[in-house]
Amino acid sequence: MRLSVIGCGYLGAVHAAAMASIGHEVVGIDVDQRKIDALAEGKAPFFEPGLPELLTEGVASGRLRFTTDLSAAADATVHFIGVGTPQQKDGYAADLTYVNAAVDGLVPYLKPGDIVAGKSTVPVGTAATLAERVTPTGATLVWNPEFLREGWAVQDTIAPDRLVAGVPAGEEGERAADVLREVYHTAIATDTPFIITDYATAELVKVSANAFLATKISFINAMAEIAEVTGADVTQLADAIGHDARIGRRFLGAGIGFGGGCLPKDIRAFSARAEELGRGESVSFLREVDAINLRRRDRAVQLVVSSLEGGVYGKKITVLGAAFKPHSDDIRDSPALDVAVRLRGLGADVTVTDPEAIENSRRIHPQLTYVHDRDEALTGADAVVVVTEWDEYRRELDPAYAATLTKGRIVIDGRNCLDAGAWRAAGWTYYGMGRP
Ligand code: UGA
Repeated sequence: MRLSVIGCGYLGAVHAAAMASIGHEVVGIDVDQRKIDALAEGKAPFFEPGLPELLTEGVASGRLRFTTDLSAAADATVHFIGVGTPQQKDGYAADLTYVNAAVDGLVPYLKPGDIVAGKSTVPVGTAATLAERVTPTGATLVWNPEFLREGWAVQDTIAPDRLVAGVPAGEEGERAADVLREVYHTAIATDTPFIITDYATAELVKVSANAFLATKISFINAMAEIAEVTGADVTQLADAIGHDARIGRRFLGAGIGFGGGCLPKDIRAFSARAEELGRGESVSFLREVDAINLRRRDRAVQLVVSSLEGGVYGKKITVLGAAFKPHSDDIRDSPALDVAVRLRGLGADVTVTDPEAIENSRRIHPQLTYVHDRDEALTGADAVVVVTEWDEYRRELDPAYAATLTKGRIVIDGRNCLDAGAWRAAGWTYYGMGRP
């Protein structure tokens, strides 16, 4: 099939490359010339495991191309909208400027029978409004949310755990669903559940999934706060409640909380949309979810300050991690980088290292010192703070070896990812989040 993908960020670039890899002819379109130049050469403009290989193969096969020229969409019959919906500058609501521009830009190139498939995360009600612009062209709008996780984006796109499409009622919707079945034929062949529904449900599936995940993380972080005043261990608590299959252990990792380009802005946009709908109280708990999450960053900073008895001023602190999570170079709303910046604000001499996110971090926070080599970063540190659970720190850093590099023996485990017993045995004073 001939597909176009408008917007070549994390979502669009991966979607375009994945669709080409399963045999479709795909054109990726973006306004950012630098991004397009990189992609056209088969290079990923951001770190995503598996993506460079897919891009190289796709471009070499001739099935995958990239351009800034929106008219290239005219040859395609299915058009995916994968542009960003960031938080508005002056409020909590989602900024729909890019989605509106993508649809308006695409309309002149649409033909009767084409499908426009929205993948961006949007406030419920957006698809119905956009359909009014698409329908007069004879094309059909569907809402087909994406559930990929950064770091696993290729796998999540090619073999998702479910597919969801909101379609118009009646025959038009049935035909659109059939077209999507053809697009996603490989996933459907392996019995991936495909939920066909209406626009509002499809939009809400996406935001409610992210709201649930954020709530789960903040729930365990709230338990960490209680553990901190009672001497309980939140990690053991999570293990114990996680054995209940109804609860499950995943996303019960207590620590400095969630960040990234999705969960924080999605729960805020959901609250804002619920207020507009007169149902603010239905999701008022999301404000609490947000507040708990942000408090954990304060807690990590407090732990560092109290661990260095004379305060952090002038102390050399090594921060291991900057990305919002491992396997990513994304620093959008990264709790890791936020902790580093706050420590620096308190007068600490902060050195940050990260396997992938240094360049992005340096651009936004040039005031911090960045070192690529982990061991060099550790050398002479008074305290070590682990804020992104990369394997390089979690598994591969031997505490006895680390002790030969640092000056102090204080480690603050902002992700509860280290083996506390092993670090203590190697002479370190270990502090976890919600752990004695
Ligand atoms: C999230 C969702 O997990 C995806 O399903 C969704 O498609 C995506 O947003 C999106 O809307 O596009 P992502 O932002 O890649 O994916 O990151 P997650 O893996 O969800 O992690 C989010 C944050 O939560 C990270 O900062 C991570 O460190 C933190 N986290 C995760 C915890 O603090 N504890 C946990 O137990 C799990």
